[in-house]
Amino acid sequence: MDYKSQINTSEVPGHIAIIMDGNGRWAKEHGKPRIFGHKNGVLSVRSVVEGAGEIGLKYLTLYAFSTENWKRPKVEVAALMQLLVATISNEVAALNKNNVRLLTIGDLKSLPGNCEKELQKAMDKTKNNTGLSLVLALSYSSKSEIVNAVKKIAKEVSENKIDVEDITDNMFNNYLDTALIQDPELLIRTSGEYRLSNFLLWQIAYSELYFSDKFWPDFTKEDLFKAVVDYQSRERRFGMTSEQLSN
Ligand code: IPE
Ligand code: IPE
Ligand code: MG
Repeated sequence: MDYKSQINTSEVPGHIAIIMDGNGRWAKEHGKPRIFGHKNGVLSVRSVVEGAGEIGLKYLTLYAFSTENWKRPKVEVAALMQLLVATISNEVAALNKNNVRLLTIGDLKSLPGNCEKELQKAMDKTKNNTGLSLVLALSYSSKSEIVNAVKKIAKEVSENKIDVEDITDNMFNNYLDTALIQDPELLIRTSGEYRLSNFLLWQIAYSELYFSDKFWPDFTKEDLFKAVVDYQSRERRFGMTSEQLSN
């Protein structure tokens, strides 16, 4: 089935966010160590980023490492960080060739120094690209992001820079890591898990959710297209009735 040709190109979402899950179980199924799954997961990232470009997506956010993932065994964390550095430095040329701009959300400062440096370098080298914005969520926790936003706002109130009455949900957006990024219309999670794992809790208030049973290393751009086709079959009512929408 060719899903790409079924996509209504005039109604492609502007932002898709993906919880890339299942690398470890995929590796186990192949009788290999977990890191083998993470390495193969990079191939899926490449395919999905390519696919996102093909359908003219503006933002693709990938949950690559959560704050909670620091609790994993040291060797796995170290291997993931090493993989991150290698992948970023390998992919910068391709990102530039494909007009992709790299952005990040999360606590970059908590990453090993070489990771942070490599990421800053890649963001700088791709900052003028005007195609897809690829947002990597790294050492990211939605609750921390929200708490940090509250702290910044509280500070500005206490310094009389803003008034309590100025606090609205629109202005709150500006204090999040995703300040300049539109909310995702579609959130995908792979590997048959049905939870959010502390990802974009504020931003997905009205996102459509899509769950795939595939482990992340088996997920390709064709699966992304399939998710978009499914998304386009849904009616987003935003609290209204179906009749109101068709009028
Ligand atoms: C997702 O795959 C990648 C990261 C969280 C870094 P997992 O490593 O969570 O794989 P499973 O869920 O154990 O199969
Ligand atoms: C969520 O996956 C984080 C990422 C995909 C980076 P996890 O595999 O860490 O989620 P839980 O712990 O099973 O909920
Ligand atoms: Mg997992």
